[in-house]
Amino acid sequence: MYITDLETPALIADRNKMQKNLNTMMGLLEGAKPKLRPHYKTHKTPQIALWQLKNGAIGITCSKLSEAEDLASAGVNDILIANQVVQPSKVAKMAQLAKCCKLTVCVDNADNIRQISTAAKFEDSHIHCYVELNIGMDRCGVNTFEEFYELAKLLEELPNVSYDGVQAYAGNLAHEYDQSSRVNGTADNEARVSALVEYLKERGIESREISGASTGTAYLKAKSTIYTEIQAGSFIFMDMSYKRLGLNLFENALHVVCTVISADENHFVIDAGVKSLCPDQDMPAIDGFNAETTKINEEHMIFYGPHNYKVGDMVKVIPGHCCSTVNLYNQIHFTDEDKVVDRLVITSRGKSQ
Ligand SMILES: Cc1ncc(COP(=O)(O)O)c(C=O)c1O
Repeated sequence: MYITDLETPALIADRNKMQKNLNTMMGLLEGAKPKLRPHYKTHKTPQIALWQLKNGAIGITCSKLSEAEDLASAGVNDILIANQVVQPSKVAKMAQLAKCCKLTVCVDNADNIRQISTAAKFEDSHIHCYVELNIGMDRCGVNTFEEFYELAKLLEELPNVSYDGVQAYAGNLAHEYDQSSRVNGTADNEARVSALVEYLKERGIESREISGASTGTAYLKAKSTIYTEIQAGSFIFMDMSYKRLGLNLFENALHVVCTVISADENHFVIDAGVKSLCPDQDMPAIDGFNAETTKINEEHMIFYGPHNYKVGDMVKVIPGHCCSTVNLYNQIHFTDEDKVVDRLVITSRGKSQ
């Protein structure tokens, strides 16, 4: 089967480029302190997670409990939920899941920690915890060293939970276009996290793991860092948002194949809109074609400006954001040049619970 045989829009990934991207990341981290714990949110496909582990990843990061359940079912035995889990029914399930794998979760609230400890005690399981420090993203995480210390101490006191380290993710720098702001911001965060680790040590608390970093900052961590785990996800596929950053370390491995369904001399339209190409981080673009402007609707994307496309032509579109685009598909086709060589079910798509 060839790419041109696929009914569009269809999600395809070049498996040789994926392997190259993974090798590049492993090469960057070779001999460096941090290990790769790649983010599952990018591909949501257990087989891809298992392949990452076979190629040197030390565990998998995910966002949600339902993703962690899929990973554990597939045989992944070291899982980090890089998020807070607070709903009582989910905390109970998480405590059950912790019986069949090493499970770590992020926390930033004392009541949540007590709730996790009680649930894990009930199940006779153990839940590892990273306390999250807000390092500029202003999402989750505590803001002060004092608050951090109180939570770490509580984790050391309560049964069936442990303080395992620091979650410090600077999503605000991941897509920072200005290279020097990205470099300087990353250095400032390193200094802040180092000061925190020192502060805790002086009070008798050891931080074994420091976890975070994205595709946009992982290369900075390879040189010198306090981090022990890199959570980057997108590097495996790449997308327009990272391509526009000028991040040339990794190649674009992911496309959505689309068909031109309408055209005149000044514009043309493809059969994919926001339901097939999520533009939350950046606009998608046709590989090798520069439109003057574009517009995206629910099921259409419109390209304006001179072109040679005609109705029925197939085009390869680079998603604006790979992670949210993959989440729109049931399956991903692996390709080798123009051939479709395999097809995997995206088991965890839509799993946001
Ligand atoms: C907690 C966390 N870690 C890591 C990442 C890095 O992902 P990426 O490399 O895809 O930018 C993200 C991205 O949203 C994240 O939320």
